Amino acid sequence: MAEEKKRVLVLYNQIEKDEFEELRKIDPATLDFTPHYSIHVATAQEEYDAIINALRKEGFDACGINLANDLSKLHGLVAENPPDAVFNLVEFFYSYSNHESDVAGFFDLFQVPYTGASPFCLSLCRRKGLTKQVLLQNGMATPHFRILEQPKIERRHGLRYPLIAKPARQDGSAGVEAGSVVHDYAQLSRRLDNLFERFGAPILVEEFIEGKELHVSVLGNDPPMVLPVLEYDFSELHKDHPRVITYDVKWNPLAVAYHKVHARCPAEIDSEIETLIKEQALAAYSATYCRDYARLDFRLGCDGVPYILEVNPNPDLTEGVSFMQSAEKADLSFAETLHRIVDYALQRKK
Ligand SMILES: Nc1ncnc2c1ncn2[C@@H]1O[C@H](COP(=O)(O)OP(=O)(O)O)[C@@H](O)[C@H]1O
Ligand SMILES: [Mg+2]
Repeated sequence: MAEEKKRVLVLYNQIEKDEFEELRKIDPATLDFTPHYSIHVATAQEEYDAIINALRKEGFDACGINLANDLSKLHGLVAENPPDAVFNLVEFFYSYSNHESDVAGFFDLFQVPYTGASPFCLSLCRRKGLTKQVLLQNGMATPHFRILEQPKIERRHGLRYPLIAKPARQDGSAGVEAGSVVHDYAQLSRRLDNLFERFGAPILVEEFIEGKELHVSVLGNDPPMVLPVLEYDFSELHKDHPRVITYDVKWNPLAVAYHKVHARCPAEIDSEIETLIKEQALAAYSATYCRDYARLDFRLGCDGVPYILEVNPNPDLTEGVSFMQSAEKADLSFAETLHRIVDYALQRKK
């Protein structure tokens, strides 16, 4: 008899109106620059649907549910009628990204297997400063830094300019803009005032690493595998734009900078650096208790040292994002990659 299909619930939490829907109304010909990438990017719903459809193609009985901040719905789905596995795409609850880990904890309490990171890993990695301490303790290089609870830092702070200031508990390049990179004390003080006003404490200030930006994706457990390294090419950016993935570069198809930064996979790095960075990525994955899949962001210093910027458990799995580009270079299709991630969750059930 054919084995029954495994029931997979793809859970996400989407409340606000999708701003990308508005982009559909814009004719690219009316922009005052020629876009390199389409400005009609997929909406969040289309991205979830692509994941659900891919899982169905892989033979799962997959269905998608928007939790819409409804705790009783979550309880009904997970506790009363538990699926074989939850595909966990929930990044916040009640608009708080701190609750990302609580939602994972809910699955743990009801003993439903779910994809991706544990509550502990999610809480740790949301705290960029604490994560950097853990990485340092484990012998990895990360830019010298300070965590600030107030918008003040002494003039002789001991860090070497240029510096970058960013919110210590955000992700997705929130608060990362052209003005984030500062070259003297006056610029730093102004930037801190601005960040504290918009994001509050804590703010992370760290040395800016000029070199290549490298994203290293890791898949699996016992042992995890490192996927081909991906690099960002900033050479087409305006010369005055800092070489960083700002919020606009990442998310805003109406910004020129969005069209000037290009991903390249595999990265053009020599094999010794590649070996080193892959070792570091695996070390960071295990030191921060990642599992199933994660992406580790590095900058390669002019001194040849790969400096780790942050650890991203449960990184974006949208088709075409850096994690999926790296998977594809390892001959894993979008659907196969998602299939593996579900299998890791199912294995935990045994
Ligand atoms: N120390 C740094 N040196 C150089 N670039 C940095 C540094 N910190 C952050 N950046 C730039 O800012 C981007 C976002 O910072 P990151 O720490 O990865 O936060 P997020 O969680 O928002 O992705 C990075 O992808 C990189 O381009
Ligand atoms: Mg990042």
